[in-house]
Amino acid sequence: MYFLDRFAGPPTKFHEKAGEGFFIPVHPEPFRGPRTILRLLLQARRDFLGIWRKTEYEVGYRELKILGRQIVLVNDPDGVKYVMATRHDNYERKSPQMRRALEFLIGDGLFISDGETWKRRRPLVSDIVHKNRLPVYGKVMEKVATEMAERWSRAQAGQTIDMLSEMATLTAEIITRAVFGKDLSREDARQVTEGFTSYQSLIDTLNIGYTLGFDDGLPVKRTKMLRKAVGRVHGVIDRVIDDHLEGRGDHDAMLDLLMRRQEKNPELGLDRSALRNEAATIFMAGYETTAATLTWAWYLLGNAPWAENAMLKELAEVCGDRAPTVGDIPKLDYARAVVEETLRLYPPVAIFARQAREADTVGPYKVKPASIVMAVPWLLHRTPGLWEKPNHFMPERFLKGRPAPYSYIPFAAGPRICAGLQFGLTEAVLCLATFLQRYRIRVVQGAKIEPMARLSLRPRHGLPVTIERR
Ligand code: HEM
Repeated sequence: MYFLDRFAGPPTKFHEKAGEGFFIPVHPEPFRGPRTILRLLLQARRDFLGIWRKTEYEVGYRELKILGRQIVLVNDPDGVKYVMATRHDNYERKSPQMRRALEFLIGDGLFISDGETWKRRRPLVSDIVHKNRLPVYGKVMEKVATEMAERWSRAQAGQTIDMLSEMATLTAEIITRAVFGKDLSREDARQVTEGFTSYQSLIDTLNIGYTLGFDDGLPVKRTKMLRKAVGRVHGVIDRVIDDHLEGRGDHDAMLDLLMRRQEKNPELGLDRSALRNEAATIFMAGYETTAATLTWAWYLLGNAPWAENAMLKELAEVCGDRAPTVGDIPKLDYARAVVEETLRLYPPVAIFARQAREADTVGPYKVKPASIVMAVPWLLHRTPGLWEKPNHFMPERFLKGRPAPYSYIPFAAGPRICAGLQFGLTEAVLCLATFLQRYRIRVVQGAKIEPMARLSLRPRHGLPVTIERR
């Protein structure tokens, strides 16, 4: 396929601007010129953010046709409410692209299941990652963040590190300990994280089979490399399941909770593969999203000294010299606003593509069964009719009040809203506060930072930064 890339057109241009008291972080120029099907597909494969025309950043609905397929783009809060909440029954199904891309790794795990399976499992998974359990997981977050901050203190002053991989290590360690238990060895944690990373790099998010007429797309080819990546992840999970079955597991682990629920209610039907799929799902859904959020937050704060100072001032008032704890989170309003603004500008899940079950009307369009209906937080969050100065980094906007309903959807909306919303928000605020209190973090001058959306939205070449003790 790579030889075709030359037909994708010129590479996208990116813009970024900083000045006295303002920062317009990096974003692509809108798409210009003819958008042929080939160009659209190739461009989307290379860079999903660069395919949008200026008019698509306005409130409204659009229809795209790719071969025989209909895609309806909904960039209107009322439309988002209609698709994701009111008619959830018709649009709960993920796109064939997403289902096919992930099925080898997470089977019928919550993230891509629908119908009866989703209905049965959703309350179960929501319950074990619920905010009521945050006091337990909060301790894990505090410990892992403090340990990493300690490790950084041994780094040389001014040393360059890649923040994306640091934040991925951090959040992977938090979620592996939360899901599998605190006794998971470093080596096992590494196997899981590397397995996932390798899987993501090997998988293509476009499914040509769907475009060619197969409503459910075509299965992804299970190459040797892909099988190896999956084997690393499943191997560890299977061993942890055995440990738990033999009574050696950590009772606070999410996996243990799932197994105990199954023991009490056999009608749940959580067999070994279901347990493995849900554990893999929670790990996948929980680690990359938060890692991407934190990475973008460092990029933004490093370029906006006024925001960094406001956050430091608040931290000093709330925590003094001691390290922040989960109990402080409700008082860290500015830090939370930084995280919320980061999620507006760089929503880790940048596209929600759903497949219509039955014929329907969305905005001005007649939607056919099996068509794709899309909400794109990347566009919605940067729509001038909904946001003042949409491309500016302005955490203060989240202190003034809540955004209009269904105009801000980094965690999705309706019944399929992120099950780990409170977990993710708490973790992001706590980790940001822990590191900011101790270190001054600056993006390396001249580093090329470009957002790229694949399964998650992250900086294509990572985020090289220097760290210095305060
Ligand atoms: C800042 C961090 C996070 C963000 C931005 C985020 C965002 C999202 C979004 C947008 C979805 C829906 C995707 C779609 O409909 O296509 C989702 C689903 C989900 N998330 Fe999160 N997430 C985050 C952290 C977490 C964490 C920490 C966990 C677990 C501890 C988690 C567990 C889940 C699960 C299980 C689902 C599937 C829900 C369902 O389909 O019913 N997420 N997340």
